[in-house]
Amino acid sequence: MALSKPFRQTSQAFVPETDLPTLTSRPIERAQGVVRAPGDKSCSHRALILGGLANGTSRFTGLLEGDDVRRTGEAMATLGVGVVCEGPGIWTIDGVGQGGLSSPKSALDFGNSGTGSRLMMGVLAGYDFAAQMTGDDSLSSRPMRRVITPLTEMGATFETSDGGRLPLTMHGKAPLAAIDFAPPQASAQVKSAILLAGLRADGETRVREAKPTRDHTERMLRRFGVEVEVSRNDAGVRTVGISGGQSLAAVETSIPGDPSSAAFLLAAGLISPKGNVLVESVMSNETRDGFLRVAALMGAELGAEETGDAAGERLIDVQALSSELRGVEVPSGFVPAMIDEFPILAVLAAVATGTTIVTGAAELRVKESDRIAAIVAMLRVNGVRAEETEDGFVIEGCGGRV
Ligand code: S3P
Repeated sequence: MALSKPFRQTSQAFVPETDLPTLTSRPIERAQGVVRAPGDKSCSHRALILGGLANGTSRFTGLLEGDDVRRTGEAMATLGVGVVCEGPGIWTIDGVGQGGLSSPKSALDFGNSGTGSRLMMGVLAGYDFAAQMTGDDSLSSRPMRRVITPLTEMGATFETSDGGRLPLTMHGKAPLAAIDFAPPQASAQVKSAILLAGLRADGETRVREAKPTRDHTERMLRRFGVEVEVSRNDAGVRTVGISGGQSLAAVETSIPGDPSSAAFLLAAGLISPKGNVLVESVMSNETRDGFLRVAALMGAELGAEETGDAAGERLIDVQALSSELRGVEVPSGFVPAMIDEFPILAVLAAVATGTTIVTGAAELRVKESDRIAAIVAMLRVNGVRAEETEDGFVIEGCGGRV
């Protein structure tokens, strides 16, 4: 069942400088319905990459088919992997096995995708050939040194544009040297790039995370038969270790539903006066559930039921009912587990009663856009009182009257 009254586009006017359509939204009484979450974007990238590195043919259902994921598929195909779409969300990947990728005949264009470009740098670091990487204007302005620095330590070399950015040419090396690295920023992309390079290194590569980030690479590597060591010390530092030279065995799996996409639909259920939204088959993973935890702190009426698993991840159905929300101080420890959900959390904060304060989220400034600036600008345009801080924002909730 679709939501009973979706937001309608009411104008075809175009803003000349950006070519963006003008959309008008109106409050609705009843956001109600049952929807299935689309495939998780992070898992979809990893499925295409690991499928390509495996021995044999992998088959995925429910793969997200957005532009970012397609670019990763195209990059794998340019490197000699058989990538075939059999139907909506159904993809087969003819893996070439560890060490089997071939030198690309053209530049790998990652479009807007930080995940695709950074993870593929990790993959290609262990290959004795050159690869050119490009992306759109936004991706070309994003920091890549966070990945280049550890991969250089492992033996790869890079010729970058100013500031260590795309477009770049990288030269891999086989084998790489294993490293023990503590990334200065909480980033699953950095961790994943190093672990993927670690597959082609001599010895054990370790990544130490002061603030644990999404762990889909670790889980999916295991699903492909790779041994990954994970430990946590008393200070909460999570260490992930991987030994080089392991091979991957092809898998057949569905892709778990995306908690980031689910968050938008659940938020509609929470803030509409007669809201009742059920999202099915959502990935349940403590490295991704910060939005649900913060919404619960705000007073959200949420329910969840476990329904199975997919690609090494647990699945739940999540229900959101219309709720009276209150502003909160978001615990900074939750930030990595909700890094992509701050725009929709800000919407909850705008309709809540009281003040919501976000700190420790400076990483939001180096996403596809400066998300702190974008969130505050969008709220202000809609009449909400909001302020940027260096590493977060403060929102004065309207108590339901936006
Ligand atoms: C992702 C990690 C996060 C997230 C991005 C997807 C991933 O980025 O924001 O949308 O799939 O590893 P960072 O690693 O930059 O935090």
